[in-house]
Amino acid sequence: MARSAYTTIAGVAGVAGERARVFSGIQPSGMLHIGNYLGAIQQWVAGQGQKTNFICLVDLHAITVPQEPADLRRQTRELAALLIAAGIDPAQTTLFVQSHVRAHAEACWLLTCQTPLGWLERMTQYKAKAQRQESVLAGLLNYPVLMAVDILLYDTDEVPVGDDQKQHVELTRDIAQRFNGLYGETFVVPKPVIRESGARIMALNDPTSKMSKSDFTRGHAIRVNDTPEEIRWVIKRAVTDAFGSIGFSADPARAGVNNLLQIYELFTGQSRAAIEAHFAGKGYGALKADVAEAVIEGLRPIRERYERLIGDPAELDRILAIGAAQARAVADPKLREVMERMGFVLPA
Ligand code: TYM
Repeated sequence: MARSAYTTIAGVAGVAGERARVFSGIQPSGMLHIGNYLGAIQQWVAGQGQKTNFICLVDLHAITVPQEPADLRRQTRELAALLIAAGIDPAQTTLFVQSHVRAHAEACWLLTCQTPLGWLERMTQYKAKAQRQESVLAGLLNYPVLMAVDILLYDTDEVPVGDDQKQHVELTRDIAQRFNGLYGETFVVPKPVIRESGARIMALNDPTSKMSKSDFTRGHAIRVNDTPEEIRWVIKRAVTDAFGSIGFSADPARAGVNNLLQIYELFTGQSRAAIEAHFAGKGYGALKADVAEAVIEGLRPIRERYERLIGDPAELDRILAIGAAQARAVADPKLREVMERMGFVLPA
């Protein structure tokens, strides 16, 4: 559909006519791991400058499971610092906190009333998360509607995410199409963008399960601010297999080695052929040593920049305030458009 009249609002980082819109989000719910970095953030950084980018710190999503208020506040600033340290440039990307743009919570109610319950109940991430909770908050079920709102308020074309968010983006498409069918063309129908490598970084201590923020077992994940000693410790103990040869593979029995190779590929930027040639005839000990050094070197500049940024919360808040103003300039008029379509009397 045609872009709404609000596309070229001045002040939105990178807006230039009809450039494709890119939107993605990340939860401030604990220190990021290399799965978040390689699955999402690295591709957000790589895409900067070519399209119009929005990156949202989704604090309203974080509270779908219980959060300590002090932790949520600290983690939100930490995440902002980490994203900037990882290369998100606030001059090229609108970086903002979800709760700073009221339209998200408001539009969430509107689209909640447009979403069949059955669509939410079949979400695999909801089912998995609900199983782990003693008592499930209603917000957890509604989580994908809020995510759809995030995406749809910005007339988003592309949503770069890891594989685990694909179903949510597909639901967003369904919600957009249903709304457009009922009320007339309102929303751009977005598509997920998932890289082949890094789409699903697996746990290092169990390559059959996804690396996850909520698993604190030592050896499961590498956090973006882990020390070089810790990174070496975790990779040295990474689960591999008994095949003894090193190559990319889709065979589940070789998932551990494949995971290490993907991590190496994404941190070094080398081609798969060059990597396989490099490791030809070598053992898993050598593979792990090289992967550890690639991760340490890849994360080093991020850690160093992060330490500088986190010491200046006032500067972080200033950057986030600018991002919020830019985001509101797009989201608020879109919310009015949605309300008008649905028949609300708009405030004068
Ligand atoms: P979140 O905060 O869980 O994760 C942020 C991003 O990291 C990706 N990711 C992974 N990629 C590869 N391997 C892994 N092991 C791995 N673990 C996480 C996720 O796919 C994601 O891209 N619901 C979203 C946040 C969100 C959002 C949005 C995303 C809210 N609104 C709108 C896109 C558009 C989430 O919880 O991501």
